[in-house]
Amino acid sequence: MAQHTQGKDAMTKATFYEEAKNYWEEIPPTVNGMLGGYGNISSTDVRGSIDFLKPMLMCEWNERVGSEKALDCGAGIGRVSKHLLLPLFQSVDLVEQEQKFLDEAPAFLGEASANVGKYICCGLQDFVPQPKHYDVIWCQWVLGHLTDEHLISFFKRCKEGLKEGAVICVKENISREGVVFDEQDSSVTRSSKELTKIFRKAGLKIMKEETQRNFPLEIYMVKMFALKYR
Ligand SMILES: C[S@@+](CC[C@H](N)C(=O)[O-])C[C@H]1O[C@@H](n2cnc3c(N)ncnc32)[C@H](O)[C@@H]1O
Repeated sequence: MAQHTQGKDAMTKATFYEEAKNYWEEIPPTVNGMLGGYGNISSTDVRGSIDFLKPMLMCEWNERVGSEKALDCGAGIGRVSKHLLLPLFQSVDLVEQEQKFLDEAPAFLGEASANVGKYICCGLQDFVPQPKHYDVIWCQWVLGHLTDEHLISFFKRCKEGLKEGAVICVKENISREGVVFDEQDSSVTRSSKELTKIFRKAGLKIMKEETQRNFPLEIYMVKMFALKYR
């Protein structure tokens, strides 16, 4: 079977979520653990995210995205919260399914943890955000753990959690074609075309799209999307 079609089948298996959970249970609560051994790319990643997000918080008033409240999805120990979201927003909530990572987060975040609203232990497939609560919902390196169906319904629920004019940001690995399954952590990597199809089905339109620069050549291309509801 061609590699790029395997992911569609893998997502239908009853063990798709269970095996991911088993994988993350064994991973140490460190930056290197969060990034699958590529801890050294964290600062380049954060720089790319700041350059992507900050202009949206600082542009003309009528287009400006608020900077009061953000949500970090699949937050792990809070790497994205610490370096990207907490410096830019008044308050940040973290949602993550592995309790061990959330337990480590306050120490990892240090003083900045004072501006964390809630630590929510929940899989994104079950998560329901508080209505009209967030200016930005940031999803990074986690959406490959959701089936297409769950990802569409997750995005639809996020709609209710966003304030007027708010955005969902997605930063994910991108495959060349189709949906590629990774049996090590039981996740899939989708192509730009596959992701765009999901955005459309969820009623989202792409406001801004960028490719992360200066990552090692051997890893997947990584793209950032800012999305609004149609
Ligand atoms: C590759 S790490 C990325 C962590 C963080 N976003 C970052 O960039 O540093 C993936 C994270 O997603 C979490 N995760 C996996 N499946 C999840 C799910 N279904 N719902 C919520 N979090 C999940 C893992 O426990 C892990 O913390």
